[in-house]
Amino acid sequence: MIDPRNYQPRADVLHDRVVLITGASGGIGKAVALAAARHGARIILHGRNIRKLEAVYDDIVGGGAPRPSILPMDFEKAGPDDYDRMVAALEQEFGRLDALLHNAGMLGERAPIEHADVAKWMRTMHVNVNAPFILTRCCLPLLKQAKDPSIIFTSSGVVPRPRAFWGAYLPSKWASDGLMRMLAQELEAHPAVRVNSLNPGKVRTNMRLQAYPAEDRATLPEADTIVAPYLFLLGPDSRGITGETFECQ
Ligand SMILES: NC(=O)c1ccc[n+]([C@@H]2O[C@H](COP(=O)([O-])OP(=O)(O)OC[C@H]3O[C@@H](n4cnc5c(N)ncnc54)[C@H](OP(=O)(O)O)[C@@H]3O)[C@@H](O)[C@H]2O)c1
Repeated sequence: MIDPRNYQPRADVLHDRVVLITGASGGIGKAVALAAARHGARIILHGRNIRKLEAVYDDIVGGGAPRPSILPMDFEKAGPDDYDRMVAALEQEFGRLDALLHNAGMLGERAPIEHADVAKWMRTMHVNVNAPFILTRCCLPLLKQAKDPSIIFTSSGVVPRPRAFWGAYLPSKWASDGLMRMLAQELEAHPAVRVNSLNPGKVRTNMRLQAYPAEDRATLPEADTIVAPYLFLLGPDSRGITGETFECQ
């Protein structure tokens, strides 16, 4: 099997694919959105911060890529109806959905379990696990209609290497990987739909800075240097691969 880290996408590999990226307002999600748009995808940019989403929109259009769409939603506040409305809006605008990247996430509070704030714990689990679950549930009918659909969850180094004091973030990433594996098996009767996870590794983003404030940021790769595995899983070259977790570095 190809190692997605060495993937060299053709210039038009995502031509005309409709791709929903959560957390596309900054960090890794923004880098993947820009790269996927450059490779021909029509991107639905999700995030909370409209000003930041508009800046990504402008970058995409300014680079001559297909015009994206903006779907703002705060996963902490949204209820199931809001997800239904969001998916109905994208169906109306694009008529289909070829890929869904669950990238949005929050670090949350890092405290010993004994002293963890319950409300903060639940917010982190909600954004990192419940939101991808609800969004997947709403998008599946559309995805199943696509010729070559792909769902990607975002994993973390805390899954293979669990450690103390990571708060709800650690179990949320385990749950996200479990959700991915369960869904991949549930979709065996729909072999066209593939479901996988990507672990970005250490990347120079706001979340990494929050997790490791004393770290020398110059030693970390920029998000745009780790996008090849995302393009691999979003596009046709990963057909037939499902239920796997891949490393980006
Ligand atoms: N950076 C790393 O080293 C690293 C390592 C392993 C895994 N990861 C994973 O990679 C993914 C992206 O992380 P990143 O480093 O790029 O983080 P980031 O720069 O902090 O970006 C996080 C994104 O998630 C969105 N988001 C956060 N809370 C949200 C909410 N309540 N509702 C809607 N959107 C929300 C943010 O939107 P706003 O800008 O609008 O707030 C932003 O677009 C995460 O799943 C993270 O766990 C990152």
